[in-house]
Amino acid sequence: MSETATERSLRDSWRLGGLTVPNRVVLAPLAGIGNWFVRLQAKRHGAGLCVSEMVSSFAVHHRNERTLRELLRVHPDERAGGPTAIQLFGHDPDVMRSAAATVAQTTGVDLIDLNMGCPVPKVCKTGAGAALLRDPGRAVELAVAAREGSGLPVTVKLRTSRTHDDRDGIEVARRLAADAGVAGLTLHPRSATQRHKGFPDYALVRQLVEELPVPIVVSGGLQDAASAREAWEASGAAAIMLARGSLGNPWLFAELLGERSGEPARAEILAELDWVIDRAVEHLGEPRAARYLRKFYPWYLDRLGAGAAERDALQRTETTAGARAVLAGAGLASAA
Ligand SMILES: Cc1cc2nc3c(=O)[nH]c(=O)nc-3n(C[C@H](O)[C@H](O)[C@H](O)COP(=O)(O)O)c2cc1C
Repeated sequence: MSETATERSLRDSWRLGGLTVPNRVVLAPLAGIGNWFVRLQAKRHGAGLCVSEMVSSFAVHHRNERTLRELLRVHPDERAGGPTAIQLFGHDPDVMRSAAATVAQTTGVDLIDLNMGCPVPKVCKTGAGAALLRDPGRAVELAVAAREGSGLPVTVKLRTSRTHDDRDGIEVARRLAADAGVAGLTLHPRSATQRHKGFPDYALVRQLVEELPVPIVVSGGLQDAASAREAWEASGAAAIMLARGSLGNPWLFAELLGERSGEPARAEILAELDWVIDRAVEHLGEPRAARYLRKFYPWYLDRLGAGAAERDALQRTETTAGARAVLAGAGLASAA
C-alpha cells in the first residue's frame, strides 16, 4: 500500500469490485441485528457500505418464506448512500450458487459477502463459517460459486484462524485472492476460539494489505472513535468495519467521518430510539417487534443513564406502546 496514514482519510471514496464506496466506514454483519432498518440507520448516519446479518444459503435455496421476506428485505433508501451487501453462509457450492442467484435476482444488492468466520458450533459443525478456515479448497469453490451464481462482486469476511496459535485464515485469504476472484476481504484478526474477546492483531491485517492485490477491511475492537482510528492506522486497511461499537451509537459513523463531534443530546437519542421502534413495527408488526426490540433498548438506555427499574420494565414489555409508556413514565421520553 503506497498511501501513508497521514495522507489517508476515512472520507475518501474507494473501489470495491467495480463499485464506488463513498467513504471508508462500513457497518459489520451482525446476526440477529443487521436487518434493513439497522443498515438504513447506519447509512443515515454516514456509513459508506453496509453488510447484512448472515443469512443461510440453505434457507434461501429452499425458499424459506421468512428468510426471503425478512432477512433478504432491502429498503430502497439503503442503497442511496453507497453499496449494500447481503452476507451468506454455507458449505455447499451448488447451494451457494443458487442462493447467490436468488439474492441477486430478488434484492437488488450490489455485492455478496460470504461468512468464513462464524465460530458458533451449530454453524461450524456443518462445515460453514470458521470451519472453512481449515478448508481452503472449499472456501475457494464457495466464493467462485457465489460469484458465478449472482454475477455480483463477492467479498469474504474471515478470521485469523480456528485456534489461537494457528494462522490458517491467512492462507485461506491468499487462496481467495489468487484463485476465487474475490473483490475484497475483511479480516477480523482474532481466532474463532477467541470469539469476540482479546485484542485484535492489526499487524496481521497489515500483512494482508501489503501482500494481496484486493482491498482489505479491518474488523474487531472498534468500540469507539479512538479505537477505530487506531485500527485504521495500525492496519493500513482500505476501510474500517464498525460492529459492537455501532450498537445504539450510529453517531459514531458521522464522528469518524468528521461530520459531528461530542455526545448526542438526550433528545437526539430519544428521537433515534423512536425511529428504531417505528421501523421495527414496520418490519415485524406487533407483537414480534415489541419482543425483538428488547435487545435494542439496553444500548440506548446506557446512553440515557437509565436505572435498573426502567431496564427491567422494558425487558418485560409486550407492546411498543408499553415500552414508550415506560420511557415516558421514567421521564426519559414523552408518551407516544
Ligand atoms: C451479536 C454479534 C453478531 C455477529 N454476527 C456476525 C455475522 O452475522 N457475520 C459475521 O461475519 N460476523 C458477525 N459478527 C462479528 C462482527 O461482524 C465483528 O467482526 C466482531 O464483532 C468484531 O468487531 P468488534 O470487536 O468491533 O465488535 C457478529 C458479532 C456480534 C457481537
